[in-house]
Amino acid sequence: MIKRIISISVLLFAALSSFGQPRLRPDNIEEVIKAMTDEELASLLVGAKESRFEFFEGTAAGVRSIPRLGIPATISCDGPAGLHFYPFRDNSDKTFYCTAFPVGTLTASSWDPELMEAMTGAMGNEVLEYGVDMFLGPGMNIHRNPLCGRNFEYFSEDPLLSGKMAAAYVRGIQGNGVIATVKHFAANNQETNRTENDARIGRRALREIYLKNFEIVVREARPGALMASYNKVNGEYVQQSHDLLTTVLRDEWGYEGVVLTDHGAKEGTVAAAKAGCDLMQPGNEDELERMLSAARSGALTRAELERNARRVLRYIVSTPRFKGYKFSDSPDLEAHARTARKVAGESIVLLKNDGGTLPLKGEEKLAVYGVGSEDFVAVGIGSGHVVTKHVASIRESLTAAGFTLDQPLADYYKDYVRMDYSTKRLAGIMDWLSYESWGYGKKVAEPDVPLNLLPEQAAQNDAAIIVLSRDAGEGNDRDLLDDFELSARERRLLRMVADEFHAKGKKVVVILNIGGVIETASWKNLADAIVLPWQPGQEGAYAVADVLTGKVNPSGKLTMTFPVDALDHPSSANFPSFPQVGEALGGLKKNTDYTEYAEGIWVGYRHFSTRGVPVSYPFGYGLSYTSFGYSKPVVKASADGFTASVTVTNTGTVAGKEVVEVYVSAPSGGMEKPVRELKAFGKTRLLSPGESQTLSFSVPAYDLASFNEALSAWEAAAGTYEVQFASSVEDIRASGTFQIRKPLSWGVNNVL
Ligand code: BGC
Repeated sequence: MIKRIISISVLLFAALSSFGQPRLRPDNIEEVIKAMTDEELASLLVGAKESRFEFFEGTAAGVRSIPRLGIPATISCDGPAGLHFYPFRDNSDKTFYCTAFPVGTLTASSWDPELMEAMTGAMGNEVLEYGVDMFLGPGMNIHRNPLCGRNFEYFSEDPLLSGKMAAAYVRGIQGNGVIATVKHFAANNQETNRTENDARIGRRALREIYLKNFEIVVREARPGALMASYNKVNGEYVQQSHDLLTTVLRDEWGYEGVVLTDHGAKEGTVAAAKAGCDLMQPGNEDELERMLSAARSGALTRAELERNARRVLRYIVSTPRFKGYKFSDSPDLEAHARTARKVAGESIVLLKNDGGTLPLKGEEKLAVYGVGSEDFVAVGIGSGHVVTKHVASIRESLTAAGFTLDQPLADYYKDYVRMDYSTKRLAGIMDWLSYESWGYGKKVAEPDVPLNLLPEQAAQNDAAIIVLSRDAGEGNDRDLLDDFELSARERRLLRMVADEFHAKGKKVVVILNIGGVIETASWKNLADAIVLPWQPGQEGAYAVADVLTGKVNPSGKLTMTFPVDALDHPSSANFPSFPQVGEALGGLKKNTDYTEYAEGIWVGYRHFSTRGVPVSYPFGYGLSYTSFGYSKPVVKASADGFTASVTVTNTGTVAGKEVVEVYVSAPSGGMEKPVRELKAFGKTRLLSPGESQTLSFSVPAYDLASFNEALSAWEAAAGTYEVQFASSVEDIRASGTFQIRKPLSWGVNNVL
């Protein structure tokens, strides 16, 4: 009875205190802001870490509610390879699995923004139907060095490709009426000491390489949210940088969405709010207290509180939760699995195919080696992991495709993986959260295969398949030994399998199930074919089978360079995975406390192509089962830059798609530039043998400009520009020229 009286009184009090108060609508945000106390404004700017699980376990963060003004609590979940939360709930017998789509390195390898948008359309539907408002993806940091632990989440070493693929990604997610979050803005290119590391970058490299992709996504796709990275840039935490979060992001690029912190408290809450960081995530009571006392003392003005709260409110009114969307909790996981398989197939890169080794007929007897054949890695580790119901193995997919597998060998790996799993469980090191939900410790180490059985296996099977797997992720960068480079066991396996099978005139196919670039130069001669599916999501093994049988003709291309040696990347002189000499500077640890981006703009192919450094596989490279011819292109100066077109013809014998990469070489006389830079790209539809398609491109002059630090201006020199149509950065098939008559310049703020 007493309880009833109390709850009636609470309701009555709530009703009275909201009496006469506005209730939030999309068109009365200003009125609501006026009605808010300073405390309420402050509370909107700090998430409530503990209350995020009130919705369900595994949400990343949320925004607090203010019931008296009709402001609901909203929630966010990770990405970016699919929705990330836990599949089990206390109050339900139902399971809540999500689809593990292919990771960023693979989807970007499609060079197909439409395909990306279709995939994230499905991903965004899971966000909507599982009742989530904000999705924490895409991740889009530049692959500065192959050993960054989170490269698998990101797209490319090239800012244009990264920006365009991210824009497509955002459109697909936001097409569902949920909010995409581009992350991690900016220069979060290493995981070592990621929350404190100071990325020291010259302004040219910052603008041209590390900010450019974000500029593209902001201008082209209007993401609803942007996550400020943990690290510092040139001495200042990004989340407290007015230059980055307001001057560049909002004033120059016109960003209108909400800015949130990456997840973890920093003391400088007030500095962050002042800089234009609207939302502290996941937020805690200390941060709220700091915000409140700053509001009381006037350290944060009412105008500043209102400005940030306005952006948060604009975000809230755009959410499905605010709009009262009745989510089903039952997205069509089967349809999404089909999408995941299709996207993986369309993105896989064929690195080597000597003597037409592939496609196989689909009837062969195959000896399949490598722990990855059973323990296939769908996605990487950390918040980018996805808890999916089932990850198809290569054993499963090849069997389904009609191949006969060497059964004792398949059983050997199956038992080995099972044993590893039960050992971990028995030893109690399988903490569900970190193991299943984040993927830490999941990967099974390569066993020492009984090599004495090899002669028999080579005699009894038609070909060998070797799966090499890697996982990596949030919190750690990758090692040079046993990660970038093959382990001694992997080398031995490759060598012995190749010797035995080749001696009997049989082929060896290597499948690279990896998240980031590995060393290939020293061993690729041992393989007849090399297929690169990266970490292709839960259905990826089926996509690999589709490529092996020729059901899908591979059309993916590399979005980063495969160097001969990791040290060939100039950034390796300043990257934590490489031992450094002379570590301490003023008590600070090199590449841990700070990292010098001494290579400037010479990242990836910009370095390798310009300086003629040999690579194992160049940027933009990828083979097909057919061949393509390029016509003489048409290139014309336009009112604002240039337009171009080229006709691509399938000159081979099977249907296929071709990615055309458009590079531009600038005239001399202006700033020092790479020999060529990617300025546009396109992909044909599936062309039958003999069929042609004309691809057209339009590039504004602003996109050709380089950043002049002294003048704080983007500049495009006058003169003759060569436009190159290429199948990789090292394989230019056709070219044309156009002129810019007068030097062009676009001044920007003298900041950073
Ligand atoms: C990661 C973000 C992620 C967030 C929430 C952070 O540690 O860097 O990418 O979105 O956690 O899980």
